[in-house]
Amino acid sequence: MKGIILAAGAGTRLFPASQPISKILLPIYDKPMIYYPLSTLMLAGINDILIITNEADNENFQKLLGDGSQFGIKIKYEIQYTQRGIADAFLIAENFINREDVALILGDNIFHGFGFSTFLKQVLANKNGATVFGYRVKDPERFGVVEFDQKGKALSLEEKPSKPKSNYAVTGLYFYDENVCEYAKSLKLSPRGELEITDLNKVYLEKGKLNVEILGRGFTWLDTGTQDSMLEAANFVRTIEANKGQQISCLEEIAIYKGFITANELEKKLEPFKGKSAYYEYVFDLINAEKSMKKMNF
Ligand code: G1P
Repeated sequence: MKGIILAAGAGTRLFPASQPISKILLPIYDKPMIYYPLSTLMLAGINDILIITNEADNENFQKLLGDGSQFGIKIKYEIQYTQRGIADAFLIAENFINREDVALILGDNIFHGFGFSTFLKQVLANKNGATVFGYRVKDPERFGVVEFDQKGKALSLEEKPSKPKSNYAVTGLYFYDENVCEYAKSLKLSPRGELEITDLNKVYLEKGKLNVEILGRGFTWLDTGTQDSMLEAANFVRTIEANKGQQISCLEEIAIYKGFITANELEKKLEPFKGKSAYYEYVFDLINAEKSMKKMNF
């Protein structure tokens, strides 16, 4: 399966903080925002990834993540030249997707929960069509909203409705079958001039091929689109990391855990960062533990 991170937004709601640099490169506590969605794709076992950026920041993303080899994965880059919406990602990425299954995650979405990797594996097993995730929120009017029938079957989807039919937001993590580019091409621009991801999901819903999985209490989903939500997310990450002494979304840790890279290979690649920051101290501790065969405890 291929993976796409859409990291192209202008981030105007965060101006002036995001004027010189993409919001998705700004830190959430101890690491750049993009580490979080990238970690989610890696936990889903995806190691062939395309990052779609705006024109001005493409180089900065490449400076940070390179070709992905430091995490044992492949990363390529594309540019979204105009803000044409989330579903536009499938027009930009058509060659990259090459009619395979694909996951899309938004650059400002953070997912956290015990056993996320196993959960994703379970929900994706034997599914066809599209799979999206519903998450209970107090302010559904800010998101795509899914309405369910008595049996928990998805009935309707609406983008930022003024009168939401449920409290379940559709999160920014989407899994699609090989038809996604074809369906994306059939979409019309919405009144705000965008190819809406909700319209794409409606195509699958109308064909009876949309699976909506609930992310229950054991999971946390944060959309870090505003100053307040960024600060809340940073506090969340700090609280958990300080409490457990384990990092959230440490890409090197996930790379070792998933077998994308060995501790020895990683150690060589990270030599220039030795002793540089608390983040890399943590990574070197992991490398040493792994080399002495102390198993990582996820
Ligand atoms: C986008 C989608 C919306 C989804 C949300 C999740 O909204 O349009 O359907 O619920 O992402 O983060 P945006 O954050 O672009 O306003």
